[in-house]
Amino acid sequence: MLSTTRRHFLTIATTAFLAAMTTMGCSSDTTTTSSSPQPGTGQVEIFSWWTAGGEEEALKVITDDFKTRYPKATLINAAVVGGSGTKAREELKKRMSDNLPPDTFQAHGGRELIGTYVRPRGITDDSANKMEDLTFLFTEQGWLSAFPKQLIDIVSFEGKIYSVPVNIHKGNSVFYNKKVFADNNITPPKTFADLYTVATALQAKGITPIAIGTRDSWPITMIFDNIILAKGGAAFFKDYFAGKKAADDPVIKDSLEEMKKVIDIMNTDSATLSWDDAADRVAKGTAAMTFMGDWAKGFFTSEKGGKLVPDQDFGEFNSPGTDNAFVVVTDTFGLPKGAPARANAVALLKVVGDKTVQTNFSLKKGSIPARKDIDASSFDSIGKATIQEFATADLVPSFAHGSAADEEFATPINSAIATFFKDKDSDKLLGVLRTNFARLR
Ligand code: GAL
Repeated sequence: MLSTTRRHFLTIATTAFLAAMTTMGCSSDTTTTSSSPQPGTGQVEIFSWWTAGGEEEALKVITDDFKTRYPKATLINAAVVGGSGTKAREELKKRMSDNLPPDTFQAHGGRELIGTYVRPRGITDDSANKMEDLTFLFTEQGWLSAFPKQLIDIVSFEGKIYSVPVNIHKGNSVFYNKKVFADNNITPPKTFADLYTVATALQAKGITPIAIGTRDSWPITMIFDNIILAKGGAAFFKDYFAGKKAADDPVIKDSLEEMKKVIDIMNTDSATLSWDDAADRVAKGTAAMTFMGDWAKGFFTSEKGGKLVPDQDFGEFNSPGTDNAFVVVTDTFGLPKGAPARANAVALLKVVGDKTVQTNFSLKKGSIPARKDIDASSFDSIGKATIQEFATADLVPSFAHGSAADEEFATPINSAIATFFKDKDSDKLLGVLRTNFARLR
């Protein structure tokens, strides 16, 4: 049975689901699999944004496994540089609207996939659906019981499953350099007040307390997520992004005041840095901490990150005030209608959902597998703790990483948050939230 917390996690996905159910009759998916050719020859293109340290090694786990299974097929890795898919998503949108889809592409589970490619807001039938229903694959592979039901629900719409989740990342993590903390007699802060005390001590030694890269705005949006979660709690967070609160609720106003103080203890040269550039400063000890999803663990342990050892060279703690909550970021792969090499794409999706691949992928990626039937013993201490937290914490869908809200809400808010980072004008950001808030309902 689903726990209450897990049912809440589903609210956002199911709200849209139920709304659409009442506005349309049945539509039929005319896709058949019977006439598909056998996989293993020709080429197959996998589209993602995994190019950073940890990301590329993890992607290689998938592509290597496919190549081992199908040595005669040519795999095209169409990864587009840019954390969180900021650039990849733009390119993908163009390709999808030009009817030139890759064979399979990465998308965050939740509103990003469903609201963009399955049932865009304002459309009441299946006419704009560009994705194949993958229920046949889940049934055939025995995945309906292998994946958590709540995860299947967020990649589903009107009872059809639209992508295969490969992993779960935790979004509300802060990573820190253990030597810097030890040298300065600092322990992980539990509250924002603790964080500022720690920051003052570090600044006195000339160390940047928090490194951030704001070349893209999403790392700032992650902090927006974390602070709202700390101030309002998990139930508020879910209600807010379901459009059930006031756009300028006092919790949001309070969160923006806190955000200003956090921005004040960050590096001032963030505009040219990516998330992994910022993580690298923590790896090298020129900054003490970075707020980042646990793909940062994948970076730290990779060649590019210096092959650091978890819980020895670097540690992880929850963003202040979010100890009992887990911001869920899930990477998934779907099958666009008209995929040029459909049979190969289906074969590749089988690899994505494979139990061993999911484990080996997450060991490189810093995430935990999406499947629930995995053996946790090969994970490091941080990974084991994350597996445990995922099972017990209040799960909330990430806004910064596409699960909580449609892109038509997320895009203007992300850019307003980027402006807020520079001008700290709360009224301006609250205004943009008010203007766009109806898009959450
Ligand atoms: C997230 C994605 C992660 C990681 C990160 C940075 O959106 O879910 O897998 O790649 O972006 O690129």
